[in-house]
Amino acid sequence: MLGVRVPRREAEAVRRKLQSMGLLLSDYRPVRDGDYIIFPVSRCPEGFECVDTEFPERKRKPRSLEDALREFLPDEAIQKISKSFDIIGHVAVIRIPEELWDLREKIGEAILRVHPNVRTVAAEVGPHQGVFRVQPVEVIAGEPNLVTEHKEFDVRLRLEVGKMYFSPRLSYERYRIAQQVRPGEFIAALFAGVGPFPLVIHRFQPNIRAYAVELNPDAYKYLVENIRLNKAESKIIPVLGDVREIVPSRFPHQADRVLMPSPILADDFLDVALEAAKPSGAVIHTYALGPNDDPFTEKEYELLRFFDERGWDAKVLNKRVVRSYSPRYDQVAFDVFVKKKK
Ligand SMILES: C[S@@+](CC[C@H](N)C(=O)[O-])C[C@H]1O[C@@H](n2cnc3c(N)ncnc32)[C@H](O)[C@@H]1O
Repeated sequence: MLGVRVPRREAEAVRRKLQSMGLLLSDYRPVRDGDYIIFPVSRCPEGFECVDTEFPERKRKPRSLEDALREFLPDEAIQKISKSFDIIGHVAVIRIPEELWDLREKIGEAILRVHPNVRTVAAEVGPHQGVFRVQPVEVIAGEPNLVTEHKEFDVRLRLEVGKMYFSPRLSYERYRIAQQVRPGEFIAALFAGVGPFPLVIHRFQPNIRAYAVELNPDAYKYLVENIRLNKAESKIIPVLGDVREIVPSRFPHQADRVLMPSPILADDFLDVALEAAKPSGAVIHTYALGPNDDPFTEKEYELLRFFDERGWDAKVLNKRVVRSYSPRYDQVAFDVFVKKKK
């Protein structure tokens, strides 16, 4: 290939000149030759020394994950991969289909190339498990460090991916609830995890009092830390334990608002939500899984019957699909106003 050879001390000025003349070949890197630099050019400009040289090709940064994956995956596999990962702080968590598992390291490297803020890529290696709802993961690329800090609406959330539940996909749901909270409310944040629901509420409405109750000791450790990091110590009280024991002993019938952010657990704890609720009126935010052709009807009927049979009037204020949970099921939210019957 053709190159322009210049003394090193003139290299920057000549580079600019060649660029302004439109002669510099940006797909190749200049090479050093003793005290000289040789620039790759499309033709030899007048007044310069030109030589024949090999230039190394520049590795172009792919513009998107799809671009990076296209280097080694067929189109249908690219679609599956590119839609199935979350970024939590510096960690990307990805679901890799079984048939692509052998390519996991390359897939991880592709994510690292495209997302400059991602330093670790972890693959899911099982479903959310047990009462702690923890999903096991395995690091497939980058730093082997799963302790991270995630930001949501300027709220700082520290956590360890794979040891406690956290989903960035619920961020709008947290925002939506936070917008409903009025000054002075007492909030019972059940199933608190590392604290995203009460902390996002506190970010938008600092004039609250809240209890945040969590059973997983690893998550609780970060809940305490996150309350401190977000300067909410005087507003949110963390409690380690089972909501079934904590609610009646620490804050029976005091809550204006009860959060039950787990579609798997909520059903079994609706009686606990009523133990937290103020008899004069409270809003319960509860979650469920419903078939995606009609996710609300059956659940709404069950909820209203449950509250009625226990002596509470209940009215569904809002209901919405939070996210798709599986090919046939959606996660849905119900905001239910409850009031003890006279
Ligand atoms: C689906 S996660 C939600 C965590 C958090 N609210 C979030 O959105 O990231 C449910 C949480 O409830 C906790 N948990 C399960 N059973 C519990 C109980 N009986 N009392 C208190 N917390 C419980 C689990 O450890 C888990 O952290």
